[in-house]
Amino acid sequence: MTFDEALAGAAQETAACLSSLLPEASSPAPRLVAAMRHAVLGPGKRLRPFFVLESAALFGVPRARAVRTGAALEALHCYSLVHDDLPAMDDDSLRRGQPTVHVAFGEATAILAGDALLTLAFELLASAETHPDAKVRCELIGGLASAAGKGGMAAGQMLDLEAERVPRQDAAAVARIQALKTGALFAFACDAGAILGGAARSERDALQTYAKASGFAFQIADDLLDAESDAAVIGKAAGKDKARGKATLVDLLGVAAARQRARDLTDEALAALAPFGEGAALLRNAALYLVNRQR
Ligand code: IPE
Ligand code: IPE
Ligand code: MG
Ligand code: MG
Ligand code: MG
Repeated sequence: MTFDEALAGAAQETAACLSSLLPEASSPAPRLVAAMRHAVLGPGKRLRPFFVLESAALFGVPRARAVRTGAALEALHCYSLVHDDLPAMDDDSLRRGQPTVHVAFGEATAILAGDALLTLAFELLASAETHPDAKVRCELIGGLASAAGKGGMAAGQMLDLEAERVPRQDAAAVARIQALKTGALFAFACDAGAILGGAARSERDALQTYAKASGFAFQIADDLLDAESDAAVIGKAAGKDKARGKATLVDLLGVAAARQRARDLTDEALAALAPFGEGAALLRNAALYLVNRQR
């Protein structure tokens, strides 16, 4: 299977799983579910579910368990996008080529849809259908909570906003923000497959090195696209990081040096996969895709 086919498959299975979990008709608040569906069913790349599926495949995890775990992570990621786009945060009106949730449904509904997607993630992980062993489910829940919360993504989002008022951060500070706001969920994506598969500590550590390096490379690519691409291609506003004074390596080092840093991180990510041999071919291709992508 090629990487493109694998990513398309992950996207299709993730969207089908999320769609079946969000039936509008049976909800006491159909408008809330409509906003949640708007947030999760647009044409996202589904990279985080892909990483769950591919890390799980290394350890022979049944596909249905990995799909549900990937869908949980995608729900949480979509919550982070809904809130990231709010007027109080990045104030964006376009996401995945569509109006953002607060533009389509209003701010209050967008906040609630984000809240409900965040909690949906944990509801999914807590269900025995995701894994029959409660210890495994607890480890997934704890891992996602840590990756998303005050020591992970939410912390990174806080620092990202604070940095708008502190121009010219140094490279180490930018790296720290990126590791939290983006890296933590990428790292969880790869760890989740390993947790589902009962992987050894050394295998989990190797995957973490891969995920952290490729997550950072992915965010540099996001910042390069913001600087160099346009909204029609990336499906969200471009040129906004500079306008808002975001702390990015592109701003700090310039386009060429940021691109080189992303390539070096990709080499680091690829080297970390050595212990997995041919079984990690799709993860290798993914690391290359992350820095060369057009959207
Ligand atoms: C966007 O993530 C937010 C960042 C962390 C940069 P993606 O680029 O994965 O967005 P979707 O899910 O494909 O829309
Ligand atoms: C957002 O980073 C990271 C999140 C945790 C949502 P960005 O603000 O750069 O993401 P985009 O560019 O809006 O997708
Ligand atoms: Mg942001
Ligand atoms: Mg944003
Ligand atoms: Mg961005």
